[in-house]
Amino acid sequence: MDTHDKIRAGKATIGIVGLGYVGLPLARRSVACGFPTIGLDTDERKIGSIRGGRSYIKHIPDSDVRGMLDGGFEVSSDFAEAMPRCDALLICVPTPLDRMREPDLSFVEDTTRTIARHLRPGQLVVLESTTYPGTTRDVMQPILESGGDPPLQPLRAEEHFLLAFSPEREDPGNPKYTIDNIPKVVGGVGPRSLEAAAALYDALTDGQAVSVSTAEAAEATKIVENIYRCVNIALVNELKVVFDAMGIDVHEVLEAADTKPFGFQKFTPGPGLGGHCIPIDPFYLSWKAREFGVPTRFIELAGEINTAMPEWVVSRTMLALNERGRPVKGSRVLVLGLAYKPDVDDVRESPALELIERLADLGAEVDYHDPHCPRTHKMRNHDLGMESLPDDGLYGTESGMGTYDCVLIATDHAWYDWDRVHDCVRRGKRQGVIVDTRNAVADTAAVNLVGNAVVVKA
Ligand SMILES: NC(=O)c1ccc[n+]([C@@H]2O[C@H](COP(=O)([O-])OP(=O)(O)OC[C@H]3O[C@@H](n4cnc5c(N)ncnc54)[C@H](O)[C@@H]3O)[C@@H](O)[C@H]2O)c1
Repeated sequence: MDTHDKIRAGKATIGIVGLGYVGLPLARRSVACGFPTIGLDTDERKIGSIRGGRSYIKHIPDSDVRGMLDGGFEVSSDFAEAMPRCDALLICVPTPLDRMREPDLSFVEDTTRTIARHLRPGQLVVLESTTYPGTTRDVMQPILESGGDPPLQPLRAEEHFLLAFSPEREDPGNPKYTIDNIPKVVGGVGPRSLEAAAALYDALTDGQAVSVSTAEAAEATKIVENIYRCVNIALVNELKVVFDAMGIDVHEVLEAADTKPFGFQKFTPGPGLGGHCIPIDPFYLSWKAREFGVPTRFIELAGEINTAMPEWVVSRTMLALNERGRPVKGSRVLVLGLAYKPDVDDVRESPALELIERLADLGAEVDYHDPHCPRTHKMRNHDLGMESLPDDGLYGTESGMGTYDCVLIATDHAWYDWDRVHDCVRRGKRQGVIVDTRNAVADTAAVNLVGNAVVVKA
């Protein structure tokens, strides 16, 4: 039985390489669909955690991990042993930017080299990591065809093994759309690869695989989706600054515009871009476009506007404190929410980190609270070494929130009770101010006027 037949029969063994925010939910889906599934990761802590029935991702409960193990899910960091047992290998490793803000494909290349060493005829290899068009064919295929180092078994794509790209559209923490019901775009390096990969993703998405003609078209599709978000977020961020100068509430305007039943999609302004995708992926395309001598002005401009947002929020914070007669230096600022978006524990590229650093650089005494992120970790660009204020005692007028000169809302987790936040700050012993970057606190009287308002939108 070849791989395609095994997939159709639900008997193909699926290997998921990289068990992070993308790989673990994908593995859960593969197990739920009845495929024998092996999760592979270089991070021994993740392997140990899963073996112990514990999740390390907030929105995936331990019970799901235990259910996966009961369903036969195996995890391993012994790639030499596990990879040959897989009929399909789905790669979900990071694709960050390097220090020069250029694509860092080292994780994809390392994984591909490892697969090449163990590749066997008939295997299907699919890259899921977001990347620029051409990665699957121009970067991965030659490595796989070299059959390892030294060459062990020169194999040819399409003839001996199958190679495709299928971008991940995971939206962590969104209960409405999960891998079970999100259509999955698939492109192969040739027709055989496409056919096998489309059959696999049809099985994983209840028949919602969307085939495109090439791996490059699939790679470009994902990048377009993220550029679309990045550019539109930049647009509303710019409008926020413009309308603020005019004393108009951008949120009210966007909500009103959103009543138009056609031709308008609402995006929401915020303190800047965060997460592993939107601040990073567009630059994969601009980098690749340079090779063709084609400018990507929209992407660059959107990047510029979005990157400037934390600075604008800091200037609004300074203005708000100034109205209270307090310099930012020495003021106590509490940042609410560290994660880059509500109800997740992911702080990658989060603008909250930038806000904390900038305010601390200006001499503010900054604390943060995030019910989902108890402490900060060393990251590529930040190493804050901070711990969240405890949940208990957060709301208070003589203690907790009430003792801060400024409460800066960076992330609107559902955990927070915004009326209580408002109340604590308004009646707090410091008579502080709320700088609200998420339109979280209802206080229409204070819209966009700094003055003595308790809530300043930013
Ligand atoms: N997080 C999202 O919401 C999201 C959504 C869509 C697409 N993506 C894309 O999916 C890819 C993965 O993102 P993520 O958020 O899951 O990353 P992640 O950092 O959460 O997980 C990546 C995992 O890969 C493992 N890993 C690294 N090198 C490895 C190797 N050589 N072999 C095996 N495992 C290795 C890491 O230990 C980690 O567990 C990225 O390209 C990202 O842009 C992410």
